[in-house]
Amino acid sequence: METTTKKPRVFSAVQPSGMPTIGNYIGALKNWVKMQEQFECIYAVADLHAITVRQEPAKLRANSMQMMALLLACGIDTEKSILFMQSHVGAHSELAWLLNCITYLGELSRMTQFKDKSQKHQTNINAGLLDYPVLMAADILLYQAEFVPVGKDQSQHLELTRNIAERFNNAYSPTFVVPEGYIPESGGRVMSLQDPTKKMSKSDDANAYIGLLDSNDEIVRKIKRAVTDSLGEIRYSEEQPGISNLLDIYAAFGDETPQEAAAQFEGKGYGELKNALAERLVESLTPIRERCGQYLKDKAYLQEVMKNGEEAASKIAYRTLAKVRRKMGFI
Ligand code: TYM
Repeated sequence: METTTKKPRVFSAVQPSGMPTIGNYIGALKNWVKMQEQFECIYAVADLHAITVRQEPAKLRANSMQMMALLLACGIDTEKSILFMQSHVGAHSELAWLLNCITYLGELSRMTQFKDKSQKHQTNINAGLLDYPVLMAADILLYQAEFVPVGKDQSQHLELTRNIAERFNNAYSPTFVVPEGYIPESGGRVMSLQDPTKKMSKSDDANAYIGLLDSNDEIVRKIKRAVTDSLGEIRYSEEQPGISNLLDIYAAFGDETPQEAAAQFEGKGYGELKNALAERLVESLTPIRERCGQYLKDKAYLQEVMKNGEEAASKIAYRTLAKVRRKMGFI
C-alpha cells in the first residue's frame, strides 16, 4: 500500500514596493526556492502591505507584475508551490480584522518597524502602518504554516504572530498552527553597501543596494564603491562590518560559508575580493534578470499564474477562515 506523508507547510511573502534587492534574495527568496523540494510551499506578493506607504497606482500595478515575474525567474515553480497575489484572496483582510480584536495596541506600537517607518513617513502615520503585523499574522495563520522563511528584520513580527496564534488557541480552542521562523544563519541581515551598520533596504539610496534587476555595469560600479575600512585585512569579524557583509554576500551566491570565503581571500587585497564578488553577482543575476524580462513580456501567462494561485490559496484560506468565524461565534 502506498503511504503518503504530508509535507510540512511553508508560507512567506514579499512586498512589491520598488526594486527587490539581493538582501531580499539572500534573506528570503533563496530559501523559498530551496524549500520547495521538501515542503508544501505557499508564497504571496504582499500588495496589501505595500499600501501602508503611499503608492502610485500605476507603479503598484507594474511592481506587482514585476515581482510575480521575478519570483518565477528566481525559481519558484508553480508545479510545486502556490504563488498568488495577496489582495486576490479576501480572507487575508477579513482574518486581519478578526485578529485585530485580540491584539493589543501596546504590542503593535512596540514594533521596531512601526517606529522606524513612522519616523520615515511622518506625514503619513496611518492606521495600516500600525496594523501591518496583524495582516502579516493573518497571512501566515490562514495557511496553518509551520515554517516562515524570512530575513532577521521580520523576527519581531513572527514572534507577535506566534503570540496571537497562542492567544486565539487558548481563548477559543486549538485552531492555528503556531509557526516558526526560518532565518538563514548568515545572510539573515544583509547590510547597506554604503553604511554596513544599517540594513540593506530598497528604499535607500541606489548605491546602498544591489537590485535583483540591476545591469551588470551597475553591479560592478556599486560593489567597487562599497564602503570597507582601512585595516587592509580580509577577516570575517564584527570589527570589519563592511568586509564581513561582502563576504556574506559572496558566500550566499556560492557554496562556501563566509568563514571559508574569508580564508580564500586571506592575504589578498580588498580590490580582489570586490572583483570576485562583482563577477559572481553578475554570473548569478544575469540569468534571473533575463528570465524575468521574458516572463514580463507574457502578461497572459502571468495572469494565468495569478488566477491558479488565487484558486489554490483560496481553498485553504477560506477553510481556516470558516473555522475561525465559527469559533468566534458568528452565525
Ligand atoms: P519585505 O518585502 O520587506 O522583504 C521580503 C523578505 O526579504 C527579507 N529582507 C532581508 N533579508 C536579509 N537582509 C536584508 N537586508 C533584507 N531586507 C529584506 C525580509 O526579511 C523578508 O523576508 N512583512 C514582510 C512581507 C510579508 C510577509 C508576510 C513575510 C507580508 N506577509 C507573511 C512573511 C510572512 C516584508 O515587508 O518583507
